[in-house]
Amino acid sequence: MRIRVLGAAAGGGFPQWNCNCPNCDGLRKGTLRAKARTQSSIAVSGDDVDWVLFNASPDILAQIQRFGALQPARGIRDTGIRSIVLMDGQIDHTTGLLMLREGQPLEIHCTDMVREDMTTGNPLFNILGHYCGVDWHPMPTAPGNAFTVTGGNDLSFTAVPLKSKAPPYSPHRNDPHEGDNVGMRITDTRTGRTAFYAPGLGEIEPHLKPYLEAADVVMVDGTFWTDDEMVRLGVSKKRAREIGHLPQSGAGGMMDVLDGLKASRKILIHINNTNPILNEDSAERAELDRRGIEVAFDGMDIAI
Ligand code: MLT
Ligand code: MN
Ligand code: ZN
Repeated sequence: MRIRVLGAAAGGGFPQWNCNCPNCDGLRKGTLRAKARTQSSIAVSGDDVDWVLFNASPDILAQIQRFGALQPARGIRDTGIRSIVLMDGQIDHTTGLLMLREGQPLEIHCTDMVREDMTTGNPLFNILGHYCGVDWHPMPTAPGNAFTVTGGNDLSFTAVPLKSKAPPYSPHRNDPHEGDNVGMRITDTRTGRTAFYAPGLGEIEPHLKPYLEAADVVMVDGTFWTDDEMVRLGVSKKRAREIGHLPQSGAGGMMDVLDGLKASRKILIHINNTNPILNEDSAERAELDRRGIEVAFDGMDIAI
């Protein structure tokens, strides 16, 4: 299978439009060695022809323009995107759906909980009903319950419910339900090789460990380096764990989790613009390098 990172940043992107943190300011001024990144999304293919979009970022139109495989031009109107899988109902993972309104009904796979968000707090499915329409497929989250999607040729998917956070506008922001957020095991059924993708991951619960341990490639929450990163910079009062993101540093942090895994590639994705790992000359980035942990960037291509 092939995974293409369309957008490696968390909500807001990098640089963020209104942000003057050292990263955003340095990138704008050209004084920082770092790459700009758009908001969180990947595309996955089993055959390099049909693609499954994971999350629909507000930056999707630019992302499609930069990746020709998503616009194969076989007809007067055409797309390589055959299905869409949503990991949650957050703005950075869903608002791009509105940009896809000119096409055929969107084949969308998400949990009951995310569908509830998408028809209440963030009613994009209702709005799309006036344009292309949504063909919703309930995503199973019972243990080991795999599913397939249109265009996911030779691929099988297993959703794993996880603790992160429903969006602020969700009816269950402060009343967590199974299925508010999921991680995904993606299996190439020809080779048996797997990727585990979880751009929002707040806590490593016991049921997650077998998925992480078995994966050939892991792509997990790289939002924050420290729990109080945004507080210390004075950009927000929100702490990482409070909004559903396990920070990389510290005891039990994401680096510790990744250190114990056999995966041949360990990749952080969904990186917030405040995170020092975006600075390629930072001590934090050097620490990741030492541990063999990669930082996803837009256009990253992963063959598994
Ligand atoms: C998050 O995952 O917490 C988001 O990136 C927040 C947002 O989109 O504003
Ligand atoms: Mn996000
Ligand atoms: Zn910033």
